Amino acid sequence: MKVLEGRVALVTGGAKGIGVAYCEALSAAGATVVVADIADPAPCVARLQAADPGARAVGLRFDVSVEAEVAGAVAAACEFAGGIDILVNNAALFATLPPADVTDIDVELWDRVMAVNVRGSFLMVKHVVPVMTRRGGGKIINVTSGVAYKGLPGMVHYTASKGALMAMTRALSRELGDAGICVNSLAPGAVMSDTIMQNTAHIQRYHQNATQQRALKRAMLPEDLLGALVFLASPGSDFVTGQTIAVDGGSVNT
Ligand SMILES: NC(=O)c1ccc[n+]([C@@H]2O[C@H](COP(=O)([O-])OP(=O)(O)OC[C@H]3O[C@@H](n4cnc5c(N)ncnc54)[C@H](O)[C@@H]3O)[C@@H](O)[C@H]2O)c1
Repeated sequence: MKVLEGRVALVTGGAKGIGVAYCEALSAAGATVVVADIADPAPCVARLQAADPGARAVGLRFDVSVEAEVAGAVAAACEFAGGIDILVNNAALFATLPPADVTDIDVELWDRVMAVNVRGSFLMVKHVVPVMTRRGGGKIINVTSGVAYKGLPGMVHYTASKGALMAMTRALSRELGDAGICVNSLAPGAVMSDTIMQNTAHIQRYHQNATQQRALKRAMLPEDLLGALVFLASPGSDFVTGQTIAVDGGSVNT
């Protein structure tokens, strides 16, 4: 039996970038996958079904920063799959966010980054927790970033949002332990995702020197994250909560 057989996983930001690899890994591990994104999730759902005609997957298109849309999507996911056991808060403004000096970040942009990266994750948790509680527990995986430890010039808004999510993980783990819900952060290093490769500004300012800062000196790919992701989603991590697992070739030491 596959390790996530019978489980339902919802991945925000699942339609593009690293999120697609997360959906593929969770599906390959036996989970029913809800691909949730503001972008079209259909190509990702088609990939999962092409890899395994027996795969159960559905796409839901909505904005994680809008509470009514989040509530509707959680209800639709439950209608399709009967519930949610695993929530991966992966959606963020990142690859499309051009680096900017702090003096050039206007309030509207700052607020939008916080609305998607922080409020979006909060809203997903708010609406998924009652579902998990009714099922006797669950797993919440907040995708943060090594930048919350190291700081990233030109990305102060993004860095602050990932620090907030890491702190939220700690508070949530203590609040939701009695409900049997484990909450952890997965902190990738600089990943050569397809969406990042299309964005030269990120390559130049962020990814260029990342390899040299690692104990393991090679480029990082989305596949490098999948072992840790499936571990945090699976029964093997049932006594692990409130933690941050950095997957970055030994760049930060958590
Ligand atoms: N690529 C990296 O180097 C790296 C490093 C550390 C952490 N991360 C984190 O990993 C995650 C994925 O990164 P990525 O490289 O694939 O970036 P990405 O920008 O390609 O992916 C973000 C996903 O979120 C979706 N999204 C954006 N706004 C949304 C909204 N309002 N509602 C719903 N979905 C929305 C996008 O459509 C996209 O599918 C992000 O949380 C990012 O912060 C990435």
